[in-house]
Amino acid sequence: MTEGRRSLLIVEDDPALQKQMQWAFDQYETVVAGDRESALAQLRRYEPAVVTMDLGLPPQPDDPAEGLKLLEEIHGLAPDTKVIVLTGQNDRANALKAIGLGAHDFCPKPFEPEFLTWTVERAFRVHELQAENARLRDTHDSPAMAGIITRDPEMQRICRTIEKVAPTSATVLILGESGTGKELFARALHDLSPRKSGRFVAINCAAIPDTLLESELFGYEKGAFTGAVKPTPGKIETAHRGTLVLDEIGDLPPALQAKLLRFLQERVIERIGGRQEISVDVRVVCATHQNLKERIAEGQFREDLYYRLAEIVVDVPPLRNRNGDAALLAHAFVRKYAVEQRRGAMTLKPDAVAAIVAHAWPGNVRELENAVRRAVIMADGSSIGAADVGLAASGEDAEALNLRQVRDTAEKNALVRVLARVDGNLSRAAELLGVSRPTLYDLMRRCSLK
Ligand SMILES: Nc1ncnc2c1ncn2[C@@H]1O[C@H](COP(=O)(O)OP(=O)(O)OP(=O)(O)O)[C@@H](O)[C@H]1O
Ligand SMILES: [Mg+2]
Repeated sequence: MTEGRRSLLIVEDDPALQKQMQWAFDQYETVVAGDRESALAQLRRYEPAVVTMDLGLPPQPDDPAEGLKLLEEIHGLAPDTKVIVLTGQNDRANALKAIGLGAHDFCPKPFEPEFLTWTVERAFRVHELQAENARLRDTHDSPAMAGIITRDPEMQRICRTIEKVAPTSATVLILGESGTGKELFARALHDLSPRKSGRFVAINCAAIPDTLLESELFGYEKGAFTGAVKPTPGKIETAHRGTLVLDEIGDLPPALQAKLLRFLQERVIERIGGRQEISVDVRVVCATHQNLKERIAEGQFREDLYYRLAEIVVDVPPLRNRNGDAALLAHAFVRKYAVEQRRGAMTLKPDAVAAIVAHAWPGNVRELENAVRRAVIMADGSSIGAADVGLAASGEDAEALNLRQVRDTAEKNALVRVLARVDGNLSRAAELLGVSRPTLYDLMRRCSLK
């Protein structure tokens, strides 16, 4: 915000005082409101950085209830706005109540102009510093890609790959455990492609019974089967000129694998019961948490289809193998849900961050996001502890991130990463970590890993 655009909302029901304050604050862009409703309207319209507010507002100026209600509403709408509450001379109780509700400061009435001026000026400064801080933090966390939060080098490499292949029509196969963000990448592929004005159609092959999947994908003509009362296009056709996402492709039944292969080779479909070939132009993106190579070896998945789908393969790492992402995502989710839940500014306590970093998150980002969301809703105050996110604090003295905790966390991270790399081969894990097998077992027991 620039000096020239410092806007101040004055909420005051006494017209004489309104005038006096506007005059006192002529260095700012001032707007005034005389009651709660118009204050909210002005807030939406001008987005002031600072609000001064009389607690006693109509219809009952002697009762602070209306003012306190407005204070809460302001924080719901614009959590960063600094509210300075003007209270009666001996009204410490309500001043404290207002501060408890998130007011930035208070000033007793009748106010000393100079005192109030300094209070307002300081509120602007705090607001500007916080905005600057948020801006720096956002550039630091530089979104690797819209909606994708990461600072892990492997994830950033994947973002670059997605950016490179998005403009092409190459078929992309996205692998990764549940909740790692496969759908988010599929979305990014669509949004960064020339097809972004077309439709993004996703179908979950595992969620639809085999008998329905064929008609869902390919559509049908009237009378193709009992209940086919009118011609209906399938998802493939609907995605014409857009992107078709086949989620859980590993679950596609064999007969449909053959049909999909034919579509990928010839780019035409026939609706069930139809005789006409319809050409469809879609970019296909597939996702699965299954190991498709294993499914091929078991005879469950066609190898020729695999190679059609896997023109580009993206393997999204699980959260536990990403460096620094758990804490980064947790902070971002706290900010997101604090706004969504209208809880004002909330933060994670150090014990929560330590526990989040140490946890292995088998459900990946989705599990972390749900845990944080629940914590934002359930936490009593404005800071979230380990217990609020459903985790045990990792040390007795939760506030101090002592050397032992740091070491435990580092050990656990290394252990989890190595175990993932050796695919369960413990001798190899012990060798890579440079410890004996008994030490490894001991370490695994301490980190509650099996
Ligand atoms: N890097 C990330 N930054 C921000 N949000 C993320 C990130 N990765 C995942 N999410 C969020 O986590 C949730 C799960 O992501 P998504 O649905 O893309 O996972 P998925 O791999 O498709 O899971 P599944 O295999 O269960 O279908 C979503 O709410 C998504 O917005
Ligand atoms: Mg998904």
